[in-house]
Amino acid sequence: MIPGSQSIYWSALAWALLSLPLALAADWIDYPSSGYATMTHYTLPENFVAACGCTADSTHYPTAAMSQMAYGSSTAYGPGCGRCFNITLADAFTSNPKFYPPEDERSSVVIKVTDLCPLGGNGWCSATANKPNAGGAYINFDLAWPSSSIPDSFFPSNVTLYGFTDFGVWNVSYQEVDCVQDWEGGKSAAALGSVPNGGSVCCPANPSGNDTCPSFSDAHGIP
Ligand SMILES: *[C@@H]1O[C@H](CO)[C@@H](O)[C@H](O)[C@H]1NC(C)=O
Ligand SMILES: *[C@@H]1O[C@H](CO)[C@@H](O)[C@H](O)[C@H]1NC(C)=O
Ligand SMILES: *[C@@H]1O[C@H](CO)[C@@H](O)[C@H](O)[C@H]1NC(C)=O
Repeated sequence: MIPGSQSIYWSALAWALLSLPLALAADWIDYPSSGYATMTHYTLPENFVAACGCTADSTHYPTAAMSQMAYGSSTAYGPGCGRCFNITLADAFTSNPKFYPPEDERSSVVIKVTDLCPLGGNGWCSATANKPNAGGAYINFDLAWPSSSIPDSFFPSNVTLYGFTDFGVWNVSYQEVDCVQDWEGGKSAAALGSVPNGGSVCCPANPSGNDTCPSFSDAHGIP
């Protein structure tokens, strides 16, 4: 018997087992830094610490959840956490007829990603690398709205004029931007970073280069 052959065998086995989570790792969406996306909205209570673990104060400024396969984790934090995007309304394509707001009502808002919008069924957050959502988009931003930091007039809202109070899902353009410079909470130290509890949190103040979050689900072998 060759000395050490057994340990070679065991290390090969261990390697195979350790590699399993990588083989199961989801096919995350590699999106461009600007483009089109869809946007929905959801209720996020003020001071709530969402999936990334960004500080409670981040909710005092515009935030959004990002669709799972672009966010990069199926639970807790992912590479999407903390990123800031300038989002501009383009058209509301689920209203009938499709609604194109006048130029001066195409509001923009810079949001920070603080939450995960889970993939599920045919929902708006269910795009995969191979299959966009029903709006043809690979990213959905789920805006925390209403929000004390976003005027109610953000969405065109003249019911007399438009016949809608809520146009449903929007087609938006987005550009990734610098959080400190462009996000409304960027000058507030309390709104930046993660909650200091040492748990499963990751919320870079201004993600860039290698200061981004790893995928929690990949790191823990969770599909
Ligand atoms: C979103 O807007 C762009 C630019 O007008 C357009 O090319 C695209 O088809 C629109 N998508 C939807 C779902 O309306
Ligand atoms: C809403 O639209 C109606 C009809 O065009 C107009 O008369 C009214 O002034 C508008 N209201 C506001 C608050 O802009
Ligand atoms: C966001 O986009 C709008 C529309 O293109 C633009 O007017 C505004 O300057 C942008 N804001 C930032 C911070 O990039």
